Amino acid sequence: MLRTVTGAESLAGKVVVVTGAGKGIGRAIAERFASVDSKVAVNDIDPDAAAATVAAIETDGGTAIAVPADVSDSGQVATMFDQVVQQWGTVDVLVNNAGLIGPMLHFLEADEAWWRRIIDVNLTGHFLCCHRAAKIMARQGKGVIINMSSGGATRSHRAFTAYDASKGGIEALTRALALDLGPYGIRVNALMPGSIDTTGMDHDARVLRGENIPAGRIGEPFDMTGPALFLASDDAGYITGDVIKVDGGMLSQQRSATVDIHPPSRFPKLEDLDWYTDRGDS
Ligand SMILES: NC(=O)c1ccc[n+]([C@@H]2O[C@H](COP(=O)([O-])OP(=O)(O)OC[C@H]3O[C@@H](n4cnc5c(N)ncnc54)[C@H](O)[C@@H]3O)[C@@H](O)[C@H]2O)c1
Repeated sequence: MLRTVTGAESLAGKVVVVTGAGKGIGRAIAERFASVDSKVAVNDIDPDAAAATVAAIETDGGTAIAVPADVSDSGQVATMFDQVVQQWGTVDVLVNNAGLIGPMLHFLEADEAWWRRIIDVNLTGHFLCCHRAAKIMARQGKGVIINMSSGGATRSHRAFTAYDASKGGIEALTRALALDLGPYGIRVNALMPGSIDTTGMDHDARVLRGENIPAGRIGEPFDMTGPALFLASDDAGYITGDVIKVDGGMLSQQRSATVDIHPPSRFPKLEDLDWYTDRGDS
Protein backbone atom coordinates (compact mmCIF):
# COMPACT_ATOMS: atom_id res chain seq x y z
CA MET A 1 0.00 0.00 0.00
CA LEU A 2 1.53 3.29 -1.08
CA ARG A 3 -0.68 5.66 0.84
CA THR A 4 -1.77 5.71 4.46
CA VAL A 5 -4.03 8.31 6.04
CA THR A 6 -1.87 9.92 8.71
CA GLY A 7 -1.78 13.60 7.74
CA ALA A 8 -4.38 16.34 7.88
CA GLU A 9 -6.93 14.04 6.16
CA SER A 10 -6.87 11.89 9.30
CA LEU A 11 -8.32 14.81 11.27
CA ALA A 12 -11.71 14.52 9.57
CA GLY A 13 -14.38 13.86 12.21
CA LYS A 14 -12.03 14.59 15.11
CA VAL A 15 -13.34 16.78 17.92
CA VAL A 16 -11.10 19.80 18.34
CA VAL A 17 -11.35 22.47 21.05
CA VAL A 18 -9.61 25.76 20.26
CA THR A 19 -9.47 28.37 23.02
CA GLY A 20 -9.37 32.10 22.30
CA ALA A 21 -10.67 31.34 18.81
CA GLY A 22 -12.82 34.46 18.44
CA LYS A 23 -10.05 36.23 16.56
CA GLY A 24 -6.40 36.18 15.57
CA ILE A 25 -4.37 32.97 15.59
CA GLY A 26 -7.08 30.95 17.37
CA ARG A 27 -9.70 31.81 14.78
CA ALA A 28 -7.36 30.90 11.91
CA ILE A 29 -6.56 27.55 13.56
CA ALA A 30 -10.27 26.83 14.21
CA GLU A 31 -11.13 27.59 10.58
CA ARG A 32 -8.26 25.43 9.29
CA PHE A 33 -9.36 22.41 11.36
CA ALA A 34 -12.91 22.92 10.07
CA SER A 35 -11.54 22.97 6.51
CA VAL A 36 -10.30 19.37 6.97
CA ASP A 37 -13.70 18.34 8.38
CA SER A 38 -12.85 18.33 12.07
CA LYS A 39 -15.69 19.23 14.43
CA VAL A 40 -14.57 22.43 16.10
CA ALA A 41 -15.55 23.78 19.53
CA VAL A 42 -14.81 27.49 19.39
CA ASN A 43 -13.98 28.98 22.77
CA ASP A 44 -13.54 32.65 23.60
CA ILE A 45 -14.17 34.85 26.62
CA ASP A 46 -16.13 37.07 24.21
CA PRO A 47 -19.31 35.14 23.24
CA ASP A 48 -19.96 37.36 20.19
CA ALA A 49 -16.47 36.71 18.85
CA ALA A 50 -16.88 32.94 19.33
CA ALA A 51 -20.27 33.08 17.57
CA ALA A 52 -18.74 35.02 14.66
CA THR A 53 -16.07 32.34 14.14
CA VAL A 54 -18.73 29.60 14.24
CA ALA A 55 -20.85 31.52 11.70
CA ALA A 56 -17.84 31.88 9.36
CA ILE A 57 -17.06 28.16 9.63
CA GLU A 58 -20.69 27.19 8.98
CA THR A 59 -20.89 29.53 5.99
CA ASP A 60 -17.94 27.63 4.51
CA GLY A 61 -19.70 24.30 5.11
CA GLY A 62 -17.82 23.32 8.27
CA THR A 63 -19.05 22.05 11.64
CA ALA A 64 -18.59 24.13 14.79
CA ILE A 65 -20.18 25.09 18.08
CA ALA A 66 -19.48 28.09 20.30
CA VAL A 67 -18.34 27.33 23.86
CA PRO A 68 -17.66 30.72 25.40
CA ALA A 69 -15.79 30.65 28.72
CA ASP A 70 -13.01 32.38 30.60
CA VAL A 71 -10.20 29.81 30.55
CA SER A 72 -8.90 31.06 33.91
CA ASP A 73 -12.16 30.05 35.65
CA SER A 74 -12.24 26.35 36.59
CA GLY A 75 -16.06 26.23 36.75
CA GLN A 76 -16.46 27.74 33.29
CA VAL A 77 -13.77 25.43 31.88
CA ALA A 78 -15.55 22.38 33.34
CA THR A 79 -18.87 23.50 31.82
CA MET A 80 -17.18 24.08 28.46
CA PHE A 81 -15.73 20.54 28.28
CA ASP A 82 -19.05 19.08 29.47
CA GLN A 83 -20.79 20.91 26.61
CA VAL A 84 -18.34 19.51 24.06
CA VAL A 85 -18.65 15.95 25.37
CA GLN A 86 -22.46 16.25 25.43
CA GLN A 87 -22.43 17.43 21.82
CA TRP A 88 -19.82 15.13 20.27
CA GLY A 89 -18.94 12.49 22.89
CA THR A 90 -15.24 13.23 23.34
CA VAL A 91 -12.31 15.58 22.80
CA ASP A 92 -9.53 14.45 20.47
CA VAL A 93 -7.47 17.64 20.18
CA LEU A 94 -7.09 20.65 22.45
CA VAL A 95 -5.44 23.81 21.14
CA ASN A 96 -4.69 26.04 24.12
CA ASN A 97 -4.40 29.34 22.32
CA ALA A 98 -6.18 31.87 24.58
CA GLY A 99 -3.76 34.36 26.02
CA LEU A 100 -3.46 37.94 27.19
CA ILE A 101 -0.62 39.74 25.46
CA GLY A 102 -0.90 43.02 27.40
CA PRO A 103 -1.12 45.42 29.01
CA MET A 104 2.58 46.22 28.91
CA LEU A 105 4.02 47.51 32.18
CA HIS A 106 7.60 48.18 33.18
CA PHE A 107 8.45 46.02 36.18
CA LEU A 108 8.87 49.08 38.40
CA GLU A 109 5.30 50.10 37.57
CA ALA A 110 3.83 46.59 37.80
CA ASP A 111 1.41 45.50 40.51
CA GLU A 112 0.14 42.19 41.82
CA ALA A 113 -3.26 42.37 40.08
CA TRP A 114 -1.53 42.76 36.69
CA TRP A 115 0.79 39.80 37.39
CA ARG A 116 -2.03 37.58 38.65
CA ARG A 117 -4.41 38.24 35.73
CA ILE A 118 -1.81 37.48 33.06
CA ILE A 119 -0.53 34.35 34.86
CA ASP A 120 -4.15 33.27 35.53
CA VAL A 121 -5.27 33.50 31.91
CA ASN A 122 -2.09 32.38 30.18
CA LEU A 123 -0.63 29.75 32.50
CA THR A 124 -3.44 28.63 34.83
CA GLY A 125 -5.80 28.72 31.82
CA HIS A 126 -3.51 26.22 30.07
CA PHE A 127 -3.41 24.05 33.21
CA LEU A 128 -7.20 24.02 33.65
CA CYS A 129 -7.95 23.15 30.02
CA CYS A 130 -5.17 20.51 29.89
CA HIS A 131 -6.47 18.97 33.11
CA ARG A 132 -10.05 18.58 31.82
CA ALA A 133 -9.02 17.46 28.37
CA ALA A 134 -6.44 14.95 29.64
CA LYS A 135 -9.04 13.13 31.74
CA ILE A 136 -11.29 12.75 28.68
CA MET A 137 -8.40 11.75 26.39
CA ALA A 138 -6.87 9.26 28.87
CA ARG A 139 -10.14 7.31 28.90
CA GLN A 140 -9.98 6.86 25.12
CA GLY A 141 -6.22 6.18 25.22
CA LYS A 142 -5.46 8.88 22.65
CA GLY A 143 -5.35 12.62 22.32
CA VAL A 144 -3.28 15.63 21.36
CA ILE A 145 -2.68 18.87 23.24
CA ILE A 146 -1.11 21.88 21.54
CA ASN A 147 -0.09 24.78 23.77
CA MET A 148 0.77 28.30 22.66
CA SER A 149 4.15 29.64 23.69
CA SER A 150 5.96 32.78 22.53
CA GLY A 151 9.51 33.84 21.79
CA GLY A 152 9.20 35.50 25.19
CA ALA A 153 9.58 32.07 26.81
CA THR A 154 13.29 32.09 25.99
CA ARG A 155 14.09 35.68 24.80
CA SER A 156 12.49 38.46 26.79
CA HIS A 157 10.40 41.44 25.72
CA ARG A 158 10.78 44.72 27.61
CA ALA A 159 7.81 45.50 29.92
CA PHE A 160 6.43 41.95 29.52
CA THR A 161 7.58 40.31 32.77
CA ALA A 162 4.31 38.52 33.51
CA TYR A 163 3.72 37.50 29.88
CA ASP A 164 7.24 36.14 29.39
CA ALA A 165 7.09 34.27 32.71
CA SER A 166 3.71 32.78 31.72
CA LYS A 167 5.12 31.59 28.39
CA GLY A 168 8.23 30.09 30.04
CA GLY A 169 5.81 28.28 32.33
CA ILE A 170 3.81 27.03 29.35
CA GLU A 171 6.93 25.48 27.80
CA ALA A 172 7.83 23.79 31.11
CA LEU A 173 4.21 22.62 31.51
CA THR A 174 4.32 21.19 27.99
CA ARG A 175 7.39 19.06 28.75
CA ALA A 176 6.07 17.95 32.15
CA LEU A 177 2.69 16.90 30.70
CA ALA A 178 4.36 15.01 27.87
CA LEU A 179 5.99 12.82 30.54
CA ASP A 180 2.90 12.31 32.69
CA LEU A 181 0.50 11.78 29.79
CA GLY A 182 2.65 9.86 27.28
CA PRO A 183 1.75 6.44 28.71
CA TYR A 184 -1.94 7.29 28.20
CA GLY A 185 -1.48 7.92 24.49
CA ILE A 186 -1.60 11.71 24.83
CA ARG A 187 0.97 13.85 23.05
CA VAL A 188 1.65 17.38 24.33
CA ASN A 189 3.55 19.96 22.30
CA ALA A 190 3.68 23.73 21.94
CA LEU A 191 3.83 26.13 19.03
CA MET A 192 5.95 29.24 19.37
CA PRO A 193 4.65 31.99 17.10
CA GLY A 194 7.07 34.74 16.09
CA SER A 195 5.65 38.09 15.08
CA ILE A 196 2.15 37.43 13.75
CA ASP A 197 -0.03 40.32 12.61
CA THR A 198 -3.28 39.84 14.48
CA THR A 199 -4.00 43.54 14.97
CA GLY A 200 -4.16 44.69 11.35
CA MET A 201 -0.91 46.71 11.35
CA ASP A 202 -0.55 49.48 8.80
CA HIS A 203 1.69 48.99 5.76
CA ASP A 204 4.73 50.80 7.21
CA ALA A 205 4.63 48.85 10.47
CA ARG A 206 4.38 45.57 8.56
CA VAL A 207 7.37 46.49 6.35
CA LEU A 208 9.45 47.57 9.35
CA ARG A 209 8.69 44.35 11.25
CA GLY A 210 9.23 42.26 8.14
CA GLU A 211 12.70 43.71 7.57
CA ASN A 212 13.77 42.29 10.93
CA ILE A 213 12.65 38.76 10.13
CA PRO A 214 14.86 36.43 8.06
CA ALA A 215 11.84 35.29 6.02
CA GLY A 216 11.41 38.95 5.03
CA ARG A 217 7.82 39.40 6.15
CA ILE A 218 5.67 39.49 9.22
CA GLY A 219 3.67 36.33 9.93
CA GLU A 220 -0.04 35.94 9.23
CA PRO A 221 -2.43 33.97 11.48
CA PHE A 222 -2.70 31.41 8.66
CA ASP A 223 1.04 30.68 9.02
CA MET A 224 0.26 29.05 12.38
CA THR A 225 -2.38 26.70 11.01
CA GLY A 226 -0.28 24.17 9.06
CA PRO A 227 2.00 23.43 12.03
CA ALA A 228 -1.09 23.05 14.26
CA LEU A 229 -2.62 20.52 11.85
CA PHE A 230 0.68 18.65 11.59
CA LEU A 231 1.10 18.36 15.37
CA ALA A 232 -2.50 17.17 15.71
CA SER A 233 -2.15 14.56 12.98
CA ASP A 234 -0.76 11.04 13.23
CA ASP A 235 2.20 12.19 11.10
CA ALA A 236 3.48 13.78 14.33
CA GLY A 237 2.82 10.57 16.27
CA TYR A 238 6.37 10.37 17.67
CA ILE A 239 6.65 14.07 18.59
CA THR A 240 5.85 15.02 22.17
CA GLY A 241 7.23 17.45 24.74
CA ASP A 242 8.51 19.67 21.96
CA VAL A 243 8.18 23.34 21.02
CA ILE A 244 8.01 24.18 17.33
CA LYS A 245 9.07 27.69 16.32
CA VAL A 246 6.88 29.29 13.64
CA ASP A 247 8.70 32.59 13.40
CA GLY A 248 10.17 33.06 9.92
CA GLY A 249 13.60 32.48 11.48
CA MET A 250 13.30 35.38 13.94
CA LEU A 251 14.89 33.60 16.89
CA SER A 252 17.67 32.17 14.72
CA GLN A 253 19.35 35.54 14.28
CA GLN A 254 22.00 37.13 16.46
CA ARG A 255 21.14 40.76 15.65
CA SER A 256 18.08 42.48 14.23
CA ALA A 257 18.53 43.19 10.54
CA THR A 258 18.48 46.96 11.09
CA VAL A 259 21.69 46.88 13.15
CA ASP A 260 23.33 43.90 11.45
CA ILE A 261 26.78 44.61 9.96
CA HIS A 262 25.65 42.77 6.83
CA PRO A 263 21.92 43.55 6.52
CA PRO A 264 19.70 42.06 3.78
CA SER A 265 20.01 45.36 1.86
CA ARG A 266 23.68 44.40 1.18
CA PHE A 267 22.83 40.87 0.04
CA PRO A 268 23.78 40.13 -3.59
CA LYS A 269 21.15 40.59 -6.27
CA LEU A 270 20.56 37.29 -8.09
CA GLU A 271 21.39 38.84 -11.48
CA ASP A 272 24.82 39.94 -10.18
CA LEU A 273 25.80 36.39 -9.29
CA ASP A 274 27.97 34.49 -11.82
CA TRP A 275 26.34 31.15 -11.13
CA TYR A 276 22.92 32.68 -11.74
CA THR A 277 23.67 34.43 -15.05
CA ASP A 278 25.87 31.51 -16.27
CA ARG A 279 23.31 28.88 -15.44
CA GLY A 280 23.92 26.86 -18.56
CA ASP A 281 21.37 28.40 -20.90
CA SER A 282 23.82 30.74 -22.67
N1 LIG B 1 0.35 37.55 17.63
C1 LIG B 1 1.62 37.25 17.91
O1 LIG B 1 2.56 37.80 17.31
C2 LIG B 1 1.94 36.21 18.97
C3 LIG B 1 3.29 35.95 19.22
C4 LIG B 1 3.60 34.99 20.17
C5 LIG B 1 2.60 34.31 20.85
N2 LIG B 1 1.30 34.60 20.58
C6 LIG B 1 0.29 33.85 21.34
O2 LIG B 1 -0.71 33.34 20.48
C7 LIG B 1 -1.96 33.35 21.13
C8 LIG B 1 -2.98 34.12 20.31
O3 LIG B 1 -2.47 35.41 20.05
P1 LIG B 1 -3.27 36.45 19.12
O4 LIG B 1 -2.28 37.45 18.66
O5 LIG B 1 -4.11 35.73 18.14
O6 LIG B 1 -4.19 37.14 20.24
P2 LIG B 1 -5.54 37.98 20.07
O7 LIG B 1 -5.53 38.96 21.19
O8 LIG B 1 -5.71 38.47 18.67
O9 LIG B 1 -6.67 36.89 20.34
C9 LIG B 1 -6.75 36.26 21.59
C10 LIG B 1 -8.17 35.78 21.79
O10 LIG B 1 -8.21 35.17 23.10
C11 LIG B 1 -9.39 35.60 23.77
N3 LIG B 1 -9.20 35.55 25.21
C12 LIG B 1 -8.52 36.43 25.99
N4 LIG B 1 -8.62 36.07 27.28
C13 LIG B 1 -9.36 34.94 27.32
C14 LIG B 1 -9.81 34.11 28.36
N5 LIG B 1 -9.53 34.40 29.64
N6 LIG B 1 -10.56 33.02 28.05
C15 LIG B 1 -10.87 32.74 26.76
N7 LIG B 1 -10.49 33.52 25.73
C16 LIG B 1 -9.73 34.60 26.00
C17 LIG B 1 -9.61 37.04 23.27
O11 LIG B 1 -10.95 37.46 23.47
C18 LIG B 1 -9.20 36.91 21.81
O12 LIG B 1 -10.31 36.59 20.98
C19 LIG B 1 -1.72 33.93 22.52
O13 LIG B 1 -1.51 32.90 23.45
C20 LIG B 1 -0.45 34.72 22.34
O14 LIG B 1 0.30 34.86 23.55
C21 LIG B 1 0.94 35.53 19.67
